[in-house]
Amino acid sequence: MKNDSPSYETQELRDFAETLQSRRTIELFLQTPVPDRLINDAIEAAVWAPNHHVTEPWHFYTLGDETKERCLDLCQDIVTHKVNEKAGEFKRQSWSEKPGWLVVTCRRSEDDLLQREDYAACCAAIQNLMLFLWKAGVGCKWSTGDITRDSRFLEIVGVDAATENVVGLIWYGYPKLTPTQSRRARAEVHTKTP
Ligand SMILES: Cc1cc2nc3c(=O)[nH]c(=O)nc-3n(C[C@H](O)[C@H](O)[C@H](O)COP(=O)(O)O)c2cc1C
Repeated sequence: MKNDSPSYETQELRDFAETLQSRRTIELFLQTPVPDRLINDAIEAAVWAPNHHVTEPWHFYTLGDETKERCLDLCQDIVTHKVNEKAGEFKRQSWSEKPGWLVVTCRRSEDDLLQREDYAACCAAIQNLMLFLWKAGVGCKWSTGDITRDSRFLEIVGVDAATENVVGLIWYGYPKLTPTQSRRARAEVHTKTP
């Protein structure tokens, strides 16, 4: 069936929808630092995500300057080997302009269903975190690029590969540029059954 157009009957709902719909992945950031207490608050908001078995499977790593520098070295190395030296230098430069770095992991489980549900909870937590920050004027980019699966990255961040999976590397900061193109549901996504 055709998607219904939204009605958003109250101002509160309109404001809430506006926050959800205006959030965009941010590529370019100002270098203005984001206060640590705002990140702490965002993590606190994140962990209110639904979590089927209340396993609290998430962990949040905020990276300090020394760690970021080691990540940049690694990023350059990965891209240099995958593409070439020039591309490695270019990538390092562009990543060095990402002001805030946060890594979110999910506890590993032997049980496939629990693993799936814990991963879902961690994704919901990341969305909570990103929306909370967005409302505070801070943009994010969620990345699952090559580096997030590289054992050297886990070692640099201090993630225990035996017990945790990386769900995302989240860059955050005040946006230098916010994409103006809004996303609309183009596909028909809603079926009402009798
Ligand atoms: C699980 C996940 C992984 C993502 N990984 C990447 C990534 O590695 N590189 C990237 O450029 N964008 C990544 N993104 C961001 C998406 O590309 C982005 O959300 C999408 O283009 C829609 O744009 P929007 O967030 O502005 O609506 C990821 C998003 C999610 C949810």
